[in-house]
Amino acid sequence: MSEGTEATGQEYWDTRYRESERIWSGEPNAALVAEAADLAPGRALDLGCGEGADAVWLARRGWRVTAVDISAVALERAAEHAAEAGVADRIDFQRHDLAQSFPEGGFALVAALFLHSRGDMPRERILRTAAAHVVSGGTLLIVGHAGHATWEHDHDQDVRLPEAAEVLESLQADPGEWEVLLSQERRRDHASPGGHHADTIVKLRRR
Ligand SMILES: C[S@@+](CC[C@H](N)C(=O)[O-])C[C@H]1O[C@@H](n2cnc3c(N)ncnc32)[C@H](O)[C@@H]1O
Repeated sequence: MSEGTEATGQEYWDTRYRESERIWSGEPNAALVAEAADLAPGRALDLGCGEGADAVWLARRGWRVTAVDISAVALERAAEHAAEAGVADRIDFQRHDLAQSFPEGGFALVAALFLHSRGDMPRERILRTAAAHVVSGGTLLIVGHAGHATWEHDHDQDVRLPEAAEVLESLQADPGEWEVLLSQERRRDHASPGGHHADTIVKLRRR
């Protein structure tokens, strides 16, 4: 890539993943564990699945998971993780730039866990599309970082991190169709490996 040329989303994320053997902890996100542990397993969609720890956790609990990421490098690692965990047959990994294409079908759980990206990823539009893929009685769970961590590179500060109320508003969810279960900031007991101390959590149930 020549200087001054902006990497595409896939180039950026493939490069970032290749920088180290693993960039996330390998553990499921605490907010997913807290919010999905009591849900009856069905079909789940994990948007921006990264290295697959959340998809593997869901599959181990009996969910059939479609796990999506823009990065082929991340998906390859996630598939390895699923195979090691013995749940490869319960996870369908699909590469999508969610700004361009989306998996088909309806899901009892659609989760977007830290679906943050540099560049022009249309996060609000993607989350509205995500909502449209939740079946009646299903759950939409959106978790994000509440503010930047001090260690972050300058370029990470370009990523906009909306408050829970903004995320909720941008969904334009019809109250006749959706019950809002959570819209809050939640501090963590321990900072994540990335140094973040709090999450924004938005959780809705489709009536
Ligand atoms: C901050 S990471 C979070 C990864 C994972 N959900 C987790 O919590 O560990 C954001 C993920 O979104 C993916 N991503 C970024 N832009 C995307 C897009 N347009 N379509 C699909 N995935 C995207 C990245 O490749 C990356 O894996």
